[in-house]
Amino acid sequence: MMIMPVTITDPIVEDYTLAHSTPADALLVELAAETREATGSRAGMQISADEGTLLTMLVKMTGVRFAVEVGVFTGYSSICIARGLEPDGRLLACDVSEEWTSIARRYWQRAGLDDRVDLRIGPAIDTLRALPAEPRIDFAFVDADKIGYLDYYEEIVPRLRSGGLVVVDNVLQGGAVIDPARQEEYIQVTRRLNDRVAADLRVESVMLPLRDGVTIARKR
Ligand SMILES: C[S@@+](CC[C@H](N)C(=O)[O-])C[C@H]1O[C@@H](n2cnc3c(N)ncnc32)[C@H](O)[C@@H]1O
Repeated sequence: MMIMPVTITDPIVEDYTLAHSTPADALLVELAAETREATGSRAGMQISADEGTLLTMLVKMTGVRFAVEVGVFTGYSSICIARGLEPDGRLLACDVSEEWTSIARRYWQRAGLDDRVDLRIGPAIDTLRALPAEPRIDFAFVDADKIGYLDYYEEIVPRLRSGGLVVVDNVLQGGAVIDPARQEEYIQVTRRLNDRVAADLRVESVMLPLRDGVTIARKR
């Protein structure tokens, strides 16, 4: 299966906005290169540098002591999240792939973050459902199998503290969510999630046309 980086914005605009955002540091650049080498076209699943900068900023602004990530892959977004945590903050990182997360583990170590990240291998829905009521989640990032998005959101929001954030990637699906001809299950689930978030009185939210679409929802 060919997986390309998806972008909804004009590439010229995207180049300009990337060039005017804080860039990735050398470690993240190296991780992106190793990911391309190790996973080929699947490297398109990795978040972009400006999304990474956004995640770090959001985590820093929210004062995060407990973060959850759904979809680790080779660790790019988890490093961006873990770098923004409070000094005693932790990240629970969920994925199903031992192979891809073995790369993440190496880079967490190199980033000095390996003692801050708890990796759970297994379907993320099981990990989320098993979470105790405390501690409350301060920040969650959802970037895994799109079929599961609505279920992940519904498990996360009740566990979020007031003022906590849930950030969801790929909410535009390359524009397919707007195209009535696109009726694949994962597109329908993404549409249902987008409608749910927009109507959900528990949160205030904004959908940004950044790369493949990023929703930020803040619990009231
Ligand atoms: C889009 S990638 C994540 C990219 C990552 N956020 C980054 O910045 O590099 C999606 C990841 O979700 C994982 N995944 C797929 N199905 C899953 C499931 N049911 N539970 C947990 N993780 C899953 C895949 O193994 C893959 O690593």
